Amino acid sequence: MILITGGAGFIGGNFVHHWFERQAKLGLSEQEPVVVFDKLTYAGNPNTIAEHLKAGRATLIQADIADRDAVRQALAQYRPRAILHFAAESHVDRSIHGPGEFIQTNMVGTFSLLEETRQYWGQMAEAEKAAFRFLHVSTDEVYGSLSDTDPAFSETTPYAPNSPYSASKAGSDHLVRAYHHTYGMPTLTTNCSNNYGPYHFPEKLIPLMILNALEGKPLPVYGDGLNIRDWLYVRDHCEAICQVLEKGRTGETYNVGGINEIKNIDVVTTICQKLDELRPRADGSKYESLITYVKDRPGHDRRYAIDPRKIQSEIGWAPSETFESGINKTVSWYLENNAWIDTVRSGSYRDWLAQNYAGR
Ligand code: NAD
Ligand code: DAU
Repeated sequence: MILITGGAGFIGGNFVHHWFERQAKLGLSEQEPVVVFDKLTYAGNPNTIAEHLKAGRATLIQADIADRDAVRQALAQYRPRAILHFAAESHVDRSIHGPGEFIQTNMVGTFSLLEETRQYWGQMAEAEKAAFRFLHVSTDEVYGSLSDTDPAFSETTPYAPNSPYSASKAGSDHLVRAYHHTYGMPTLTTNCSNNYGPYHFPEKLIPLMILNALEGKPLPVYGDGLNIRDWLYVRDHCEAICQVLEKGRTGETYNVGGINEIKNIDVVTTICQKLDELRPRADGSKYESLITYVKDRPGHDRRYAIDPRKIQSEIGWAPSETFESGINKTVSWYLENNAWIDTVRSGSYRDWLAQNYAGR
């Protein structure tokens, strides 16, 4: 049994799918079940993992990681052999509008989870204790921003977070590090670049552009559109996490990325071209005509890039998707999954769009 915080979100939900598909591929006679511990904020959606919940392979506990009683009870009841910590407030723009939730969940919540895990782990028998893992899922944004000529982020790049989101993730990384160093807790940390793929909440660049384009709405590109992100298909990230869980050295951090640096404007035009092929507009115009440059994100990091040599050489992980193959799958998924899309576009989603884009 493993416990997954944030398992109803984008990456956590994809991870639940990946976990069971991977075990099926390996031909295991019995599948190891998961407990998803998720507050179900606006970003959490049980529909994402509905088939596993229905089949009884996954159990959902709706609770806050900062609720220590709820965490204690879940650990006592399910006795997981590992905790995979995905739960977080994850959107940079929201952290600019309201940083408080980010400090609360990403720092106070991670601290609460670590404290309860320390108690739980401390009471284990020696063999169980040695086998236990706390895997913390983090981001490349903790390293700050690169110029066009800087080398990519490695595990020894100094932390220099620039947004309330990345600062709160950096704080959580430091806590995880301290719990290993001070208490000997068997922790692992992954710092990954930008993910994309199915079940991505449409506040983030790629799903926002796909859905706005399909509705004939403007495609809001921040600033000059030349900021660079290092894109990784979400299932490649999920596989990296599985392999780090199996083979990672405790106390270590592993950077995860696909050597896939792309300028934002090129991401958006690629999406437009895919949609021109798959869902041409009724009036014959190109989706690119919807691109609109808008006021930049405050403190917008210019470039992220991951040096993945450590995870490649030590763990043997490498991504299996190119951006071309991953974006094809992603655009097709959004064209075919209206039911899921409808469940996430609630009133609060519309309020967010008004708050973030009205003044730009
Ligand atoms: P997401 O926002 O889609 O999902 C977050 C999930 O956490 C949701 O299900 C939400 O309900 C849950 N959650 C939020 N606050 C909680 C709380 N207090 N208690 C319990 N559950 C809570 O995020 P994501 O994009 O899936 O990111 C998952 C993790 O991966 C985050 O830690 C993020 O920092 C990290 N990460 C994301 C990316 C990316 O590109 N999306 C890249 C690298 C790392
Ligand atoms: O690098 C990893 C990080 O990637 C994760 O830690 C975060 O959780 C995740 O949200 C993501 O952060 P970004 O800020 O890079 O992702 P976002 O999709 O919000 O933006 C990607 C780029 O696109 C960024 O340069 C800002 C730009 N952008 C974004 C939106 C929403 C636009 O130009 N227009 C938009 O409307």
